[in-house]
Amino acid sequence: MKQLTLVVLISGSGSNLQAIIDAIDHGELNASILAVISNEPDAYGLIRAQEQDIPAISIDHRHFASRQEFDQRLQHIIDKLQPDLLVLAGFMRILSDDFIEHFAPHILNIHPSLLPRYQGLNTHQRALDNQDPEHGVSIHVVTPELDSGPVILQGRFAIEASDDSASLQQKAHQLEHRMYPLVLQWISQQRLQLSVEQPLFDGQPLQQPLDFHDLP
Ligand code: GRF
Repeated sequence: MKQLTLVVLISGSGSNLQAIIDAIDHGELNASILAVISNEPDAYGLIRAQEQDIPAISIDHRHFASRQEFDQRLQHIIDKLQPDLLVLAGFMRILSDDFIEHFAPHILNIHPSLLPRYQGLNTHQRALDNQDPEHGVSIHVVTPELDSGPVILQGRFAIEASDDSASLQQKAHQLEHRMYPLVLQWISQQRLQLSVEQPLFDGQPLQQPLDFHDLP
């Protein structure tokens, strides 16, 4: 089985990156990470990468005159690496349409809400403010419209009266760390074929997101 090659884009702690690294180390994911790229030079995820001898690249977006120039630099670096897949794991920059169209459908993102609910930021607080009974995590194909591409997999959990934004974030992270390696492994096994319209899972069009708690 061919090894899936990844470039992981981060901006922060990189706990999802770590979950992917661990899944590779444990033989649960047949993949290799060609590089980790962060737009934030201080991102802890860069240190996680260095500790594993994965090339860790920092491109500070503040050093570019425009979004387009930053994205072109990013695209240039990634094009040289030729990964099978771009994995957005806490990458906190909006990517330009040109960049996304260049790599689509081979870009995945993990988003801390049950999409289409709560696209954008502050998802945990917004779920609390709306008194939602449940909350969760979505992994989706990236398309030019923010947090709107086809959702592959969702995981959910109940919101308890005692929850606050921090506890919801913790619950989301626990799920994310199990979900992201799994979706990547499906791609590596060719069980999942990405598309910006309708991905295929086990050869069948994915009509709705798969439920992490009720997998076929
Ligand atoms: C995750 O909650 C992810 O859903 C969101 O950003 C966070 C990244 O966390 N897109 P980490 O850097 O992987 O720890």
